[in-house]
Amino acid sequence: MNLRLLVFRKYSIKPRQLLCPAKFTMISPMNILVIGGGGREHAIIKKLKESPQVKQVYALPGNGGIAQDAVCLPGKPADGKAALSYAREYGIDFAVVSPDDPLVCGVADTLRESGIPAFGPSAKAAAIEGSKVFSKDLMKRYGIPTAEYAVFDDSAQAIAAMEARNRYPAVIKADGLALGKGVIIVQTKSEARRAIQYLMEEKAFGQSGSRVVIEEFLTGPEVTVMAFTDSRTIVPLISSMDHKRAFDNNQGPNTGGMGVIAPNPHYTPAIAAECMERIFRPTVEAMNREGRPFKGCLYFGLMLTDKGPKVIEYNCRFGDPEAQAVLPLLQTELLTIMQAVEAERLADLAVQFRGGASACVILASGGYPGDYKTGLAIAGLPDKDEAERLEQSGVSVFHAGTAVQDNSMVTAGGRVLGITAVANDLPQALRRAYEEAAKIRFAGMHYRRDIGKNNPLPGCTSQFNAAP
Ligand code: AMP
Ligand code: GLY
Repeated sequence: MNLRLLVFRKYSIKPRQLLCPAKFTMISPMNILVIGGGGREHAIIKKLKESPQVKQVYALPGNGGIAQDAVCLPGKPADGKAALSYAREYGIDFAVVSPDDPLVCGVADTLRESGIPAFGPSAKAAAIEGSKVFSKDLMKRYGIPTAEYAVFDDSAQAIAAMEARNRYPAVIKADGLALGKGVIIVQTKSEARRAIQYLMEEKAFGQSGSRVVIEEFLTGPEVTVMAFTDSRTIVPLISSMDHKRAFDNNQGPNTGGMGVIAPNPHYTPAIAAECMERIFRPTVEAMNREGRPFKGCLYFGLMLTDKGPKVIEYNCRFGDPEAQAVLPLLQTELLTIMQAVEAERLADLAVQFRGGASACVILASGGYPGDYKTGLAIAGLPDKDEAERLEQSGVSVFHAGTAVQDNSMVTAGGRVLGITAVANDLPQALRRAYEEAAKIRFAGMHYRRDIGKNNPLPGCTSQFNAAP
């Protein structure tokens, strides 16, 4: 059977005619603007550059390592005006708005409204990540499986509800964006009170904590599935497993993610089919019905509970570090897919992945996810020739928090580098990623040694010490 039709039949939301074959191949070379400056954006840029159509990539703001692959432009990712003025100045033909902040602020809308095609959802659609209350209510309205929850905009009422509830662990989530730190798992009444005060009264994450969601604690393996969607068709990428806790054996505070394996061994074809039926398709349809069609990469954070897969969270973008492990497995040109999403012609593409497995190990600054130093010299990075040789053998060194100072690479963030290896199977991928990780050093560097090992299920120990 024609693969194109297979994709079309399996995942289409609204059948559409395939009368006019897509013409994604543009003759003229393209200037691309990628908004963001982390490991995920480095992975996106490297992947985009595989397309012969790409003439030059610009990054706003990029980082020290991205500067080797793109022209880095100073500014803030959420500054739509800056993005637009750079787009005009550099003749940008296509933009990729990657992180949550600019998406929720409407940077993709600003660019599109000014005639610059962009990959990334509108602000209206990005609310699926920007407001947990919106996403929980959406799931409730459309019968999409998720944890039971209640919403509070008053801390005294939230505390009273937790006292009355008396069932632990429980999960307390800030409504808005909170740098990935707005989810607190509490084990006792006093922890619950403290967490509510921290989010709602002390406003640890500003207005993000004005409302909270209090959620039933779920257990089971976690799976990330990112999917391209143009609001008509859904194309899931290879599944993955993030490792959120800072230290081995899932100890310590939650981080943005300390490592990834792909595919996720828990995600069987039967579970994938169930997720498509009960979660992915209903979510995209729900967003259409709400008048918020989602076009971009929709991230499903899932938990495989004994009552079936449930949604833990949605993100309106690629996961970081998940993108660093999953994009290297993509065989179809990323630019072609992104253009197809933007043109709502994803059904016309057969998106393909290579077999095998991928592993990504994050090298983090000492102290991360708490306070850490920056400006520390990084030793052992591959030079240009070595980096090319490594890439040919399936290993990529993605820069997340780096900067160039006096001609040398220094640390500039909590997560500094992501070392990804693609191989024929997971043990080989892990071995290669750890081999390369061991060559790199900076003062205070730490990384988990148990990525892809049989970790205990996440979320079973208290993490409230993450919040001072
Ligand atoms: P998030 O920032 O929403 O990805 O949440 C961070 C982590 O908190 C998730 O990866 C889960 O491990 C955990 N978590 C979030 N919601 C729940 C829940 N309802 N039950 C159990 N664990 C959860
Ligand atoms: N790694 C989880 C996230 O990107 O939100």
